[in-house]
Amino acid sequence: MLLSELTDVGRDPAGGVTRFAWAAAELELRAWFSARAAALALDVETDGNGNLWAWWGASLPGTAFVVGSHLDSVRSGGEFDGPLGVASAFAVVETLRSSGWMPSRPLAIVAFADEEGGRFGLACLGSRLLTGAVEPSKALALVDDSGTTLAEAMTAAGHDPRRVGPDAGRLAKIGAFVELHIEQGRMPLPDGTRGLAGADRPVGVAREIWPHGRWRIDLAGVPDHAGTTAIADRVDPVLAMAEGIVEVRRVAAELGILATVGRVRVLPGAVNAIASSASLWVDARGQDPERVRELVAAIEARLGVAAALESWTDVTRFDAALTADVSAAVGGEVPSLPSGAGHDAGVLSLAGVPTAMLFVRNPTGVSHSPEEHAEESDALAGVAALTAVIRRMAS
Ligand code: GLV
Ligand code: MN
Ligand code: MN
Repeated sequence: MLLSELTDVGRDPAGGVTRFAWAAAELELRAWFSARAAALALDVETDGNGNLWAWWGASLPGTAFVVGSHLDSVRSGGEFDGPLGVASAFAVVETLRSSGWMPSRPLAIVAFADEEGGRFGLACLGSRLLTGAVEPSKALALVDDSGTTLAEAMTAAGHDPRRVGPDAGRLAKIGAFVELHIEQGRMPLPDGTRGLAGADRPVGVAREIWPHGRWRIDLAGVPDHAGTTAIADRVDPVLAMAEGIVEVRRVAAELGILATVGRVRVLPGAVNAIASSASLWVDARGQDPERVRELVAAIEARLGVAAALESWTDVTRFDAALTADVSAAVGGEVPSLPSGAGHDAGVLSLAGVPTAMLFVRNPTGVSHSPEEHAEESDALAGVAALTAVIRRMAS
């Protein structure tokens, strides 16, 4: 099994795996990446933003053909989101090496740092920093739940935060990036079926990533005793938070988009005290960015407070020519799916790098969950597809 070497890393007693950026489990995965690369005689480097690169023929002429994904996970996430792309890339290189094939241009496997934003709240940090989509000072000041900044977490893991920042030279070297990824959701296809299961195909390509963003809404209360404060005298922010959560769902359904409150914080969090503050995080996505913004405006109006934008990514359309090449290399009918999930491939695409994605069938579409799954035969079909792509694009 492709990912069996990693299955125990970051196993969470609550279910699934938790592999937050720069924490112990993720560092173990970084060591695995280096060992895997060394076993294939690839040259490993960590760039200034903490992204891992394994090079085959780095000094060959021309721009690099890059494959890979990320190694971190959401809290209690699945084993496939991210690592499937990295492990598949290593499997491809192993096969190609043993067949005597040599690249004609530099070939790299990348593992982008902190794709999920599970620890510091901002997704695709490694790729955003690389492309300059986020200010280094803003990123380094982000804090996790225990108050540790990204700069402190990097330092503790042995990475110098002073190296963080845009890397135009590296970006210019990337001629194309193809990210192989587990399918997420069962997205609609033009023929009315849903997902790769509906299309009865093990592998598909991505067409676009829907615009998506994250917002935080802070609601202030007046802290007081739960047993002595008359109902009429209370300013309880938890009540407003609950109304906001229900409203997010209602407005999303009305507008035909997706919006989720998956994280809330109530302070000080005492059972017998009215809270001093309550915060909710809204993740909103959809085909039409105007509707996403409309949802946020509706919630702001309902709660009477401004939402703080934590991240925004515009609609991303993958490179048509590269995607056509990828589909041709895979052969046969290759379904083209939209993605509701964000990806480093999207960040690179917005920075002008030709990018494409391969999706490997996930029978239920469930993701960011311990139930996330791909059959071994489909994972191997993904490896075969990526092999064909590399042969076509880097021979
Ligand atoms: C990343 O997986 C995201 O879309 O939240
Ligand atoms: Mn992912
Ligand atoms: Mn994910």
